[in-house]
Amino acid sequence: MRNDRQSKTTKVEIKHLYKIFGAQPEAMLPLVRDEGVTKAELMEHHQHVLGLSDINVEVKEGDITVMMGLSGSGKSTLIRHLNRLIDPTAGEVRVDGEDILAYDEEKLRELRRNKMSMVFQNFALLPHRTVLENTAMALTVRGQQRSDYEDDAKRWLARVGLGGSEDQYPHQLSGGMQQRVGLARALASNAPIMLMDEAFSALDPLIRTDMQDLLLELQEELAKTVIFISHDLDEALKLADHLVILKDGYVVQQDEPQKILLEPADDYIVDFISDINRARVLRVRSVMRGPSEGRGTPTGEIGPEETLEDVIAKSGGEPSSSFVVMQEGRQIGVLDMDDLMRALVPTGASESGLRTRASA
Ligand SMILES: Nc1ncnc2c1ncn2[C@@H]1O[C@H](COP(=O)(O)OP(=O)(O)OP(=O)(O)O)[C@@H](O)[C@H]1O
Ligand SMILES: [Mg+2]
Repeated sequence: MRNDRQSKTTKVEIKHLYKIFGAQPEAMLPLVRDEGVTKAELMEHHQHVLGLSDINVEVKEGDITVMMGLSGSGKSTLIRHLNRLIDPTAGEVRVDGEDILAYDEEKLRELRRNKMSMVFQNFALLPHRTVLENTAMALTVRGQQRSDYEDDAKRWLARVGLGGSEDQYPHQLSGGMQQRVGLARALASNAPIMLMDEAFSALDPLIRTDMQDLLLELQEELAKTVIFISHDLDEALKLADHLVILKDGYVVQQDEPQKILLEPADDYIVDFISDINRARVLRVRSVMRGPSEGRGTPTGEIGPEETLEDVIAKSGGEPSSSFVVMQEGRQIGVLDMDDLMRALVPTGASESGLRTRASA
């Protein structure tokens, strides 16, 4: 599922998107677009804030696309363009091929009600409504009565691990439980696109990990188009099929997480990923050689989606181990321990991991 981006349908397309905040954004546009004025310069000399600069992202159907970057890099501004809570200074946003900037009020309402659901950082539950009623919010807005939505809402609550809590009120739940309601509410709306802005950031680390696992598990089943915002690199690497890294309003690099670790685009990314546990993130398929390129005598078999950490465990620490990579009964590659060790060394921006391997 994670390796065939070309063959996937584009669900949301963001093209040459600019957002400038201030009194005269249009007047500032040429400075940014044509003269390369930076965010800091625009602020200092022109008293305008560069929110987003020439953003181009294709969000594929069924993918989790993670937008990540430090505070102020433009993540929330970007996601708010997708349901037009913010209109751009320039550029295009297309959903299912349609230009949503051309939508009238009614089409916009339809987009927000039926195509997109949102999960918020602060849960945003209604305090005077029960868990069940909160879960069914989108359905209530569509005119459904309790008898229409009850079964569905209960089913989603059970699915996120909250069976039996239907009649409680939000304040009676822990933060983690409240966010499960937020997730159930988004799923009950049955919208194909889920927007999640720092949805798990307010949770304790252990609860947060649970929620990430739950999202991945649900995603296996439901294959929603998820756009997930995070400022946490571990979370981003864990969840993303496609990872977009923002800085000062522009995209520094976007790719499959594996590729970003092995081929960081510049020093900013190198620095950004320097503390990552590479063994836990990198997978066999990203660092293996071709099936006929093995040098050692094979000591075992591994799968392409196993992490290097898994392989190290299988090797028992034996440096001369050499593995055959098998997929559906067929050999698709080999991985020797020295290649594995080399992949664990952080790659510089100028020299890609693949090149390091080829010259070895
Ligand atoms: N309404 C606004 N008016 C002026 N500037 C704004 C406005 N909204 C956002 N900005 C600016 O745009 C930039 C991007 O902000 P944004 O909220 O998108 O960042 P973020 O990546 O979501 O940060 P955080 O991780 O803190 O949520 C920031 O410099 C911010 O100050
Ligand atoms: Mg934000």
